[in-house]
Order: sequence, then structure tokens, then C-alpha cells
Amino acid sequence: MKKTLIKGTGRYVPSRVVKNDDLAQLMDTSDEWIRQRTGIEERHWVPEEGGVGSSDLGLEASKIAIKRAGWTPEDIDFIIFGTLSPDIYFPGSAFFLQHKLGLETTPALDIRQQCTGFVYGLTIADAFIRSGYANKILFVGAEVHSTGLDLSTRGRDVAVIFGDGAGAVCLEGVETDEPVGVLSSVLHAQGEFAEILKIDFPSHKQHPIIDEKMIREGRHYPFMDGRLVFKTAVRKLPQVTYAALEKARLTVDDIDLFIPHQANLRINQAFAKSMKLPEEKVFNNIQKYGNTTAASIPIALDEAIEKQRIKDGSTVIFLALGSGLTWGAVVYRFYISPERR
Ligand SMILES: CC(C)(COP(=O)(O)OP(=O)(O)OC[C@H]1O[C@@H](n2cnc3c(N)ncnc32)[C@H](O)[C@@H]1OP(=O)(O)O)[C@@H](O)C(=O)NCCC(=O)NCCS
Repeated sequence: MKKTLIKGTGRYVPSRVVKNDDLAQLMDTSDEWIRQRTGIEERHWVPEEGGVGSSDLGLEASKIAIKRAGWTPEDIDFIIFGTLSPDIYFPGSAFFLQHKLGLETTPALDIRQQCTGFVYGLTIADAFIRSGYANKILFVGAEVHSTGLDLSTRGRDVAVIFGDGAGAVCLEGVETDEPVGVLSSVLHAQGEFAEILKIDFPSHKQHPIIDEKMIREGRHYPFMDGRLVFKTAVRKLPQVTYAALEKARLTVDDIDLFIPHQANLRINQAFAKSMKLPEEKVFNNIQKYGNTTAASIPIALDEAIEKQRIKDGSTVIFLALGSGLTWGAVVYRFYISPERR
């Protein structure tokens, strides 16, 4: 049977490190407030002068993942790009990345799933691979948030949370009867709550799609009902984790590492508490990156592999909740090559 395996991962963040104290120079906030409420200590932002898009960050992460997979860009059958911060309004960043990889007509798809970009993207890739439509798929999650944030006190609740970055994963179909690869996936969406985390403008509901009044009111900046997002995440993440485990016929004890989206350290700590997990079973790196949305899980995965928190045969679960509202979880088991069994 064909299984979807992770063959290579890569991450890239811009070199500009923005500390909480740097933000306190721009708005009424403090290192103490940000650390206490979110766990974030610093994040990486693209250069202030601009000119760097999510496809540029995605390209750097992709080059690393492709090399580690032992692929060349020409091997890629399909590209899936998760972002809420595309280079331009349309078309999506997948096309810019495809061209930058030197490819000519490789199909490329943008998905707009925000923080659940990776769990949705991995599920789509797995379905494409198992159906035989494509065998080598590059998933990239990349965000340039910093250029779109309100850096005044008005926008402080959102501005302190988000970071720029990219993560890439090479996914390949392999014939094997071993219980490896994507073992289960559970995805959800609830449009009833679409407006609790959003950017209103530009909007095609009006002409022109954005005007000076909207800009004055800051409606081109993200809006977030942080408390509601927090409460919903703490409730839904354990539910969807149990559902994905049940579908894979596994229990919490079978999971070697939980890799949640990095939205807020307190959300992940509450998740761990409700699942009765020891701290070392949940991977967190929001302290260094902030919330990088579609990039957060692939960045975390790449770091977890680098830190040897994942080994051959490890079973992991990826889980996320974000704007849409969307949430989901994917159970994945790493392959043990026959010679190492
Ligand atoms: C955003 C978040 C950190 C705010 O924390 P909170 O404990 O809910 O704080 P509140 O929004 O209730 O605000 C508490 C106070 O802090 C203030 N505040 C908000 N942002 C601030 C900042 N950056 N610095 C200092 N004070 C801030 C508020 O104005 C409020 O002041 P008031 O009591 O005088 O009105 C938290 O709600 C959160 O993380 N939510 C989830 C966000 C998330 O995961 N988003 C991504 C989804 S994928």
C-alpha cells in the first residue's frame, strides 16, 4: 500500500531578531506582559525596508528540505503553499515559489487555512499521493506578518504575537505494508466564527476595495478576539487530538511527541495539562519565533528532528486551531528503514 512519508524538512527565518523590549519602544507594552501572556521572548521579522515576500522565505526553507530529501526541484510533482500573507493580493505565493525554484509548469496550489495550513496541507498531499495523482509533493508554509501589523498601541494585542518565517516538508509516496506515514487525519471548520480572527480590507464587497477611511480606522490590520480564540483552542485541541488518535487506533501513550501549532505557550500548556502530558512530550518553540501561522508546525517539526526529539519509528501528532475557524490533527509515524529494524 502506498504511504505518505516525510523525506526532508527545512526552515528559514529572516535574520532580524525583534525582542519584546524592541516592541516596547513602539507601543505601550512590556517584556513582562508579553512573556507572561504568550511565552514569546523574540521573533524574526523581514528587513524593515521591505522587498521580501513569503515566497522568498519559502524558497530558502524549500531548498534545505529538497536537498535533505535527496530530490532536485525537477522531481516535484506538486506544490502546496500555505500562507495568509501572500507576496501580492493574487495570484498566490505558490506560483512565485515555483518560478523561483526554476520550475516551468509544475502544478502549484495556495491554501488559505491560516494556522491549520500544515494539517490541511498534509492531508491534501496524503490524499493526492495515495490516489496516485502525484508522488512527490512539496508543502511550504510561509508568512511575512510583520509588514501587515499595526505597530502602534492600538494594535498591540496582535502585533506582539506574530513572527515571520517559513517551513518546508518534502512528502513522498512509498509502497510499504508497515504502519508508517500519515496514519489518520481529522479536520474541521466552523464559518460561524470566521470573524473572530480576520482582516476586513481590502474587500471586494466595496469599490474601491480599500479607501482612506478604512486605512485611518486600521481595518487593513488583523482583528482578533484573543480571549475567544484562546478559550476555543483550549477546548477543541484535546477533542480533535482524541478523535485523530481514535481514528488511528492509538492512545495518548502511543504518541512520542505532540507538535502543536505555536499560537501561545499558555494554550499549549493548557493542552498538555488537559491531556495529562509531561512537559517533554509537547514541542514548543514559540519563545524564539512568535506565531508564524502556516509556518509554525513545519518549523517546529524541523527543529524537533534537529534536536533529536524525533527518531526513526517515532509516532507524532500535529495539531492546530486558527482563523476560519479551522482546526485539525494528523497522526504520523516516521519510517524505519529495513536495514535499521
Ligand atoms: C492575545 C492574548 C495574549 C491576550 O491575553 P489576555 O490575557 O486575553 O488579555 P486581554 O485581551 O484580556 O487583555 C488584558 C489587558 O491587557 C491589555 N493588552 C493587550 N495587549 C497588550 C500588550 N501587547 N501589552 C500590554 N497590554 C496589552 C489589554 O488592553 C487589556 O487591558 P485592560 O484590562 O486595561 O482592558 C490572548 O488572548 C491570546 O493569546 N489569545 C489567543 C491568540 C491566538 O492564539 N491567536 C492566534 C490564533 S492562531
